[in-house]
Amino acid sequence: MSTSNSSCHEAVVHGPLSHKTPRTWPAEGYTRAPYWVYTDPDIYAQEQAKIFRGKAWHYVGLEAEVPDVGSFKTTYIGEQSVVLTRAEDGSLHVVVNRCAHRGNMLCRDAFGKVKKLYCVYHAWNYNLKGDLTHAAFSHGLRGEGGLPKDFQLSEHGLHKLRVATLCGLVFATFSDELEPLEDWLGDVAQGIRRVLHKPLKVLGYDTQRIHANWKTYHENPRDSYHANILHTFYGTFGLSRQSQESGMTLDKSGRHVYFYTKAGTEKKSEDFDKTSAALRSVNNDMKLEDPSILKWRDEFGDGVSVQVLTTYPSFVLHQIANSLATRQLIPRGVGESDLVWTYFGFEDDDEATTQTRLVQANLAGSAGMISVEDAAVCEMMQRAMADGQSGESFIEMGGKTLESGGTTKLSERAIRNFWHNYRLDMGIDLDLA
Ligand code: FES
Ligand SMILES: [Fe+2]
Repeated sequence: MSTSNSSCHEAVVHGPLSHKTPRTWPAEGYTRAPYWVYTDPDIYAQEQAKIFRGKAWHYVGLEAEVPDVGSFKTTYIGEQSVVLTRAEDGSLHVVVNRCAHRGNMLCRDAFGKVKKLYCVYHAWNYNLKGDLTHAAFSHGLRGEGGLPKDFQLSEHGLHKLRVATLCGLVFATFSDELEPLEDWLGDVAQGIRRVLHKPLKVLGYDTQRIHANWKTYHENPRDSYHANILHTFYGTFGLSRQSQESGMTLDKSGRHVYFYTKAGTEKKSEDFDKTSAALRSVNNDMKLEDPSILKWRDEFGDGVSVQVLTTYPSFVLHQIANSLATRQLIPRGVGESDLVWTYFGFEDDDEATTQTRLVQANLAGSAGMISVEDAAVCEMMQRAMADGQSGESFIEMGGKTLESGGTTKLSERAIRNFWHNYRLDMGIDLDLA
């Protein structure tokens, strides 16, 4: 990881879709994000190629969502529809959801169980690993029609992605060159192992459309600075406060991050008392009429009440009290995104634990008492940045470099690291003077 900020004066986005007028990245580098990066359709199109179909592992689901031979799940990597399947030997596969004949969509259901993947248009059949097994009328009829003599089924399978799993999470990538998943996750893998330590059971889903560019949301759970300020429920009812013991871990590339807080570990500090007077989120007089939602059990035995983990560019794993969920971010155009929440527990949870998780599911999600504000802020940002012609984010909380801010949550270190990696992947030339 580089320790210095970029010294460039101008950066140009290269590529066939670049604007006629080169876009200029602010000279300060990754401590700024120009607003055109959230609003320009050409930039959005380049992201699909360079990030979503580029060198990144993308979360596609839980192993528990495809439990049996023939189980499938249809989802997205960026805008590309893909299908996750479980084959006869138990192995997991991810294929592009597009027939190798003339491009028809194979799976239209979100979930299901099949013996094979079947294209309704001309009945090409694929096995659960994506190999073509049969093409209707390939030998023609009565000596006429049919596919050429040199046609080989083995040359016309579905587009297969690389697949890797970690603790029940399934990731896929279009890249043949990307390092193995666990190497890519680095130190942040420990945050996944901490939570997903035994077989999972899916409890339910929540999907929301956010009228904002995907990066406004990707920045949000990397942004430990806002958590105890924007989310008044956190501070007011003590699940997460800046005055509590907390920390942040990034992997060495700076792509992935998690932060945590331990409820009930308040340390008195004059700084906090001074600042808190100006915070909307500190309301010592408010009480819940039914406080049962706050009753959480320290199930991992380390006192952590909140852990939010983000992997680049579109995955979140959260533990908020005993609410556990994944979030998958799906871009739907330059100013639209979907967020899919999958709530889960463990296979061996008793009924009371499942009930607690379901009650606490109300803390997060599209209408969650904590997270409802996140999408609202993303949409307000998108509206405020709408013209995309001027202005830029200022990202210097905790310092100006990739390391500054250390492990404190009062920092935008993970956001600076995001923009650093984003610019690398997008080919934004850091050395242009
Ligand atoms: S498009 Fe699928 S069989 Fe023709
Ligand atoms: Fe948030």
